[in-house]
Amino acid sequence: MTMVIQGDFSHVKDRLAVLALLAVWGMASGASATVPTCAPVDFMAPAPEVVRLGQALFYDPVLSGSKAVACATCHHPEHGTSDGVSLSLGDGGAGLGPARRVDPDNPPEQRIPRNATALFNLGAPEFSVMFADGRLEATADGLRTPLGEDFDRLDLSVLAAQTMFPVLSPDEMAGHYGESDVSRAVRQGLLTHDGGAWAILTDRIEAIPAYRGAFDAAYGADRAVDFAGIADALAAFIAVEWRADDSPFDRHLCDGAPLEPLAAEGMALFYGEAGCASCHAGRFQTDHAFHAIAMPQIGPGKAARFESHARDTGRMRVTGRAGDAYAFRTPSLRNVTETAPYGHSGAYATLDGVVRHHLDPVAALDAYDRAQAVLPDLPGARDFRALDDPRERDAIAAANVLVPKVLTDAQVDALLAFLAALTDEGSVAGRLGVPDAVPSGLPVP
Ligand code: HEC
Ligand code: HEC
Repeated sequence: MTMVIQGDFSHVKDRLAVLALLAVWGMASGASATVPTCAPVDFMAPAPEVVRLGQALFYDPVLSGSKAVACATCHHPEHGTSDGVSLSLGDGGAGLGPARRVDPDNPPEQRIPRNATALFNLGAPEFSVMFADGRLEATADGLRTPLGEDFDRLDLSVLAAQTMFPVLSPDEMAGHYGESDVSRAVRQGLLTHDGGAWAILTDRIEAIPAYRGAFDAAYGADRAVDFAGIADALAAFIAVEWRADDSPFDRHLCDGAPLEPLAAEGMALFYGEAGCASCHAGRFQTDHAFHAIAMPQIGPGKAARFESHARDTGRMRVTGRAGDAYAFRTPSLRNVTETAPYGHSGAYATLDGVVRHHLDPVAALDAYDRAQAVLPDLPGARDFRALDDPRERDAIAAANVLVPKVLTDAQVDALLAFLAALTDEGSVAGRLGVPDAVPSGLPVP
């Protein structure tokens, strides 16, 4: 790599100041981003019995209020641990992935406001920030969560803590109205309390002998089924099942195996001229930080129940800082060929589309082709409200931090070839795979 520095720095006495200046300049242009090394990753290594309990729970709709939605409904290996749609339909839908349909007798109140995240490599310690807005985070002082104190008495990894949220969300798993004991508890704000949603679900699991046996095997017969045990098992399963660090890229880093020529060219661009690695940094191509890149906003947005907008201001919802408006977490790009659609609201159907968005985000926002949104029919949904609102569109555009960049079609093709070299084929189907049956006897998604 060559850097041409113009100007005379001889008047600057402190050479360190010059070096610091160059470092900042280099970072801003993305030019100094380093290729990660093959340092060993200290992945979570849970006991196999705990992983097997987690597998059963992950695929079992018993954890949802109406016993119809499992974690796997939105995070399925057939769809790269996501669900192949821009925005999921949780409780009130039937079927999997793009074939999911609304149940006319119990239609969902709205789509899930964000694209279902893929679950690869979450057992690596660097994944300490969960969700596109980072509302759940492991900090030096412990976990920071939207539930606050309720978590303090639990000693959980951030991944285990994350698994405790979907079951409390009416749209995802808890369900609506007076539909079930769980949804009623959630409506009354009874979450972690005696008789609350977690306690109801825990009792359900305890009452199924095969789960009791699996709990004995995982944690010993003395321990009553508790939600922390459920959460730890789900986390253990995700960590082991979808570890994805054996891609052609890893073999290149670790064993010096050559990438195919186009991918090698893409890698040089990614870590050089194209500037991708200034945000998609490190072994898993994410800095775990938040950046506003004018991603088109579709779907209901993240309004509180009493609000009527369709906005999603991302990180600002968590920090309250205006400077964080429309900033979303940099996604890891591992297995990204398998996880379409892309972006926090799943606006882009193709990898080519979302990569090209980065080249001129504001122009791409304006040119966004709505026909590509993968949205199973939901009567009454107003999916393009944010884009139709000129003030909202302007606010998304104004927050953008990505400076437009010219890349040729051949360069974009090379970047796409590099992204394909980040796919760990062995991890896509998972290690234990989809079980034939689950202990509740309910249908497996
Ligand atoms: C109805 C769809 C749906 C269901 C069911 C669901 N999820 Fe998710 N999941 C999502 C969406 C959407 C997000 C992203 C939310 C966000 O970023 O705000 C997500 C995020 C996550 C994440 C965070 C990943 C990351 O990198 O931040 C994990 C882990 C996860 N889900 C695990 C689970 C588990 C475990 C279950 C079952 C207990 C489950 N999910 C059930 C839709 C779903
Ligand atoms: C300024 C930081 C930044 C830079 C530089 C950057 N990205 Fe991104 N990228 C992001 C953020 C943030 C998102 C998610 C935005 C959202 O969902 O609103 C994203 C999303 C993506 C996605 C979609 C992934 C998914 O799972 O949805 C791909 C692919 C991607 N970037 C590739 C690239 C490539 C290739 C480059 C270089 C040409 C690049 N990015 C440069 C920050 C950046």
